[in-house]
Amino acid sequence: MSQSSPYIYSFLGLLPFWILCTSSTNKCVVRHEAADCSHLKLTQVPDDLPANITVLNLTHNQLRRLPPDNFTRYSQLTTLDGGFNSISKLEPELCQKLPLLEILNLEHNELSRLSERTFIFCVNLMELHLRSNSIQKIENDPFQNLKNLIKLDLSHNGLSSTKLGSQPQLENLQELLLSNNKINILRREGLDFLGNSSLKKLELSSNPIKEFSPGCFHAIGKLFGLSLNNAQLNPNLTEQLCLELSNTSIQNLSLSNTQLYRTSNMTFVGLKHTNLTVLDLSHNNLNVIDNGSFVWLPRLEYFFLGYNNIEHLFSHSFYGLLSVRYLDLRRSFTKQSTALASRPKIDDFSFQWLKRLEYLNMGDNNFPGIKSNMFTGLIKLKHLSLSDSFTSLRTLTNETFLSLAQSPLVTLNLTKNKISKIESDAFSCLGHLQVLDLGLNEIGQELTGQEWRGLGNIIEIYLSYNKYLQLTPGSFALVPSLQRLMLCRVALRNVDSSPSPFHSLRHLVILDLSNNNIANINDKLLEGLEKLEILELQHNNLARLWKRANPSGPVYFLKGLSRLHILNLESNGFDEIPAEVFKGLSELKSIDLGLNNLNIFPRSVFDDQASLKSLNLQKNLITSVEKDVFGPAFRNLSNLDMSFNPFDCTCESIAWFVNWINSTHTNISDLSSHYLCNTPPQYHGFPVMLFDISACKDSAPFELFFIINTSILLIFIFTVLLIHFEGWRISFYWNVSVHRVLGFKEIDRQPEQFEYAAYIIHAYKDRDWVWENFSPMEEKDQTLRFCLEERDFEAGVLELESIVNSIKRSRKTIFVITQHLLKDPLCKRFKVHQAVQQAVEQNLDSIILIFLEDIPDYKLNRALCLRRGMFKSHCILNWPVQKERVNAFHHKLQVALGSRNSIH
Ligand SMILES: *[C@@H]1O[C@H](CO)[C@@H](O)[C@H](O)[C@H]1NC(C)=O
Ligand SMILES: *[C@@H]1O[C@H](CO)[C@@H](O)[C@H](O)[C@H]1NC(C)=O
Ligand SMILES: *[C@@H]1O[C@H](CO)[C@@H](O)[C@H](O)[C@H]1NC(C)=O
Ligand SMILES: *[C@@H]1O[C@H](CO)[C@@H](O)[C@H](O)[C@H]1NC(C)=O
Ligand SMILES: *[C@@H]1O[C@H](CO)[C@@H](O)[C@H](O)[C@H]1NC(C)=O
Ligand SMILES: *[C@@H]1O[C@H](CO)[C@@H](O)[C@H](O)[C@H]1NC(C)=O
Ligand SMILES: *[C@@H]1O[C@H](CO)[C@@H](O)[C@H](O)[C@H]1NC(C)=O
Ligand SMILES: *[C@@H]1O[C@H](CO)[C@@H](O)[C@H](O)[C@H]1NC(C)=O
Repeated sequence: MSQSSPYIYSFLGLLPFWILCTSSTNKCVVRHEAADCSHLKLTQVPDDLPANITVLNLTHNQLRRLPPDNFTRYSQLTTLDGGFNSISKLEPELCQKLPLLEILNLEHNELSRLSERTFIFCVNLMELHLRSNSIQKIENDPFQNLKNLIKLDLSHNGLSSTKLGSQPQLENLQELLLSNNKINILRREGLDFLGNSSLKKLELSSNPIKEFSPGCFHAIGKLFGLSLNNAQLNPNLTEQLCLELSNTSIQNLSLSNTQLYRTSNMTFVGLKHTNLTVLDLSHNNLNVIDNGSFVWLPRLEYFFLGYNNIEHLFSHSFYGLLSVRYLDLRRSFTKQSTALASRPKIDDFSFQWLKRLEYLNMGDNNFPGIKSNMFTGLIKLKHLSLSDSFTSLRTLTNETFLSLAQSPLVTLNLTKNKISKIESDAFSCLGHLQVLDLGLNEIGQELTGQEWRGLGNIIEIYLSYNKYLQLTPGSFALVPSLQRLMLCRVALRNVDSSPSPFHSLRHLVILDLSNNNIANINDKLLEGLEKLEILELQHNNLARLWKRANPSGPVYFLKGLSRLHILNLESNGFDEIPAEVFKGLSELKSIDLGLNNLNIFPRSVFDDQASLKSLNLQKNLITSVEKDVFGPAFRNLSNLDMSFNPFDCTCESIAWFVNWINSTHTNISDLSSHYLCNTPPQYHGFPVMLFDISACKDSAPFELFFIINTSILLIFIFTVLLIHFEGWRISFYWNVSVHRVLGFKEIDRQPEQFEYAAYIIHAYKDRDWVWENFSPMEEKDQTLRFCLEERDFEAGVLELESIVNSIKRSRKTIFVITQHLLKDPLCKRFKVHQAVQQAVEQNLDSIILIFLEDIPDYKLNRALCLRRGMFKSHCILNWPVQKERVNAFHHKLQVALGSRNSIH
């Protein structure tokens, strides 16, 4: 690879063949038996190219010779290009070594002498290029043996004569190029070596020719084409030239830039006896065309008169041009002066002689206007270009084109004429018109539709780039045949009229509404345009129409356009795109949504776009490219532009995209420079295509792994939280269940089996309240007896054992809960535990909580390991603040005392 210098890279397109060459010491590129050794600074002919090459390009090197021996190896050559070297000598043996040579190019070298032997062996040569050497004289018939030569180029040398041989030769020559030499006289004996030739083209342009000697062109076997451009022929010499061409086979004569400033009725008289069909008189500063100048050219078909300085076209200037089909009058008339007096003038009926004219281009002129009989008589005219032709064609009236009424005009080009108004019936006499170009004018008006009346065959109306156009429902009602309507940048107004301005255009194929800043359209705008294939809506302001927040919902203005192929919505400010918006547009080949603000694409938005070939989403706010969204659109894509989006380079966002990029054949330009990550920060500015997806490679197992992991984590967290907040309940019920299962049967003994109705746990400080409230109950009901520590324990001694026993002998346990109880150490540690143990064994209803104060559950739990939730609601009583509710409290307490001990 060490020799693979930068040259190789200039031939990257030929990479597969480059290998062939890098094995040798030169850097030629060989492809299909053609070796390109150009621009290599070679001083010698390479000796190591494949021997079977047929084309060898040695141009732009530093070769001084072409030594025949160096070509022994390349005997198959048919083309040898040695142009742009410093070759000053050519050896006859070269052609001997190259018997099959057909094309020899030695242009831009330093050959100055050709000997009689130089080409003696080049019998198969068909083209010989000796342009731009220093050959000043040809002697001794060097081309004598070139019997197959078709083209001989000796232009840009120093030849002063056309004489290339002393006897007839080059019988197959078709093109002889002698331009840019020093030939000043065309002599008969200088051309009679071509006596047996039939020349299609004799190129003598840019020679200082001053004289045509008698019979010079008649020396040539047949002469069909002659170019004498850039020769200083004046009218006199031109006339003489034409006389010399009389009775020749001349068909094509080019006299561009020959200072033919005036033509008279005698200038071309010599061409009377020819069959001239093509005449180029362009760039001549031609000022006056006398009446009858071209009367001698009845067979002329193509006439180029562009870039002249005609002041006045007389009524008979074109008289006699019976056969002209194509007339180029671009910039033919005076343009320099803007003074009204020197404005070019065209007499009425000037064109009436051109009965066969089909194509007339009068663009780039300065005519004041269209006169009433300007074009009268052009009965075959089909194509008329009047682009930039007029200075004051402000208003098109029903009379402007009356002179074209007889013409079967098919295309009319009126661009760049400062037209400001089209009146009704302006084109009504042009019933054959198919293409009408009114672009780049200053039209500002309401289109009522009457403007187009009579255009029964119209196919295209181009109105782009005008001042303003106000649409109405009738704007195009009279041209239902229209297939192409261009309304780009015309400040369109009233586009949302109802019915739609386009409702009658059932054949419309192309509609251009771009660059109009349109903000309001309705969903009927394009209704019924079933043949529409191209829709240009770029550079408008349609963003609102696709917003969910739009008062009547998104406007589906594309619906029903089932034939649509190309859709351009660039630069509309879209930041939302409804999922259904492209539904049914199954023939879409190209969508351009570039330069919008789109970020999120709904999942199924491109589902119907399986035939998409080109998608442009450049300069949006796209962060992720997901398969669910773009998979269908990317399937058959040939061109994608998503450049300049703020890609989020994470596995979830672009792994699929990067994978697709690396395997697709879709053309994505500037991938490495214009597709850069925006987030996460550590990837900012990093090329998307280099994002390492190996970490995401096994994304399916990874996802599963992720899901499992996450689930486990969530379950764990849930469990922890559950245990944290509800653990007591779980362990409590667990205890209960265990006890029941292990056979601690509910001992729902009858009330009389207990000694006490309830054991009352309370803080010492609350003893007064207990006494006050429970002793009256005992008095009322003789069967009721509570275990009150102060009263029922001997001398108030709190023996643990007796507490246990007392609790066991009580049917229920009552907690009198106050702040004091929460602080009472004995209660905290022992009594509560005991009671709960008993409750668990016996059953939960055996515990009754009486709250004398409002104690939060968490404090209760922290101090006593009890929670309200452990107990049935009727076992939880609150001491009322209001006196009148005390009775109700007693009633509730009795209910609680009376309830069965059960957890159900
Ligand atoms: C020309 O020669 C090269 C090798 O030098 C060979 O690969 C190639 O097939 C040959 N082409 C023909 C048409 O023989
Ligand atoms: C040889 O190469 C030059 C420069 O690349 C090019 O212009 C020329 O057409 C080539 N000649 C032939 C015969 O292909
Ligand atoms: C070309 O020929 C010259 C003399 O005829 C010889 O000196 C030179 O080595 C040859 N070059 C190659 C590359 O064959
Ligand atoms: C052209 O010929 C006319 C007479 O035939 C002569 O008077 C005139 O000077 C000539 N003009 C030029 C420029 O040779
Ligand atoms: C040429 O025009 C002149 C007047 O300019 C006229 O006298 C002459 O008859 C015309 N010749 C021909 C052949 O029409
Ligand atoms: C012009 O063409 C006709 C037929 O097309 C032919 O007979 C005539 O010889 C031609 N004239 C010349 C001068 O070649
Ligand atoms: C052009 O319109 C005017 C009325 O606006 C009418 O008087 C005139 O006859 C029309 N001309 C043609 C040729 O229709
Ligand atoms: C009208 O002419 C202009 C200028 O030559 C050209 O650019 C444009 O394409 C033409 N319009 C049509 C429809 O050919």
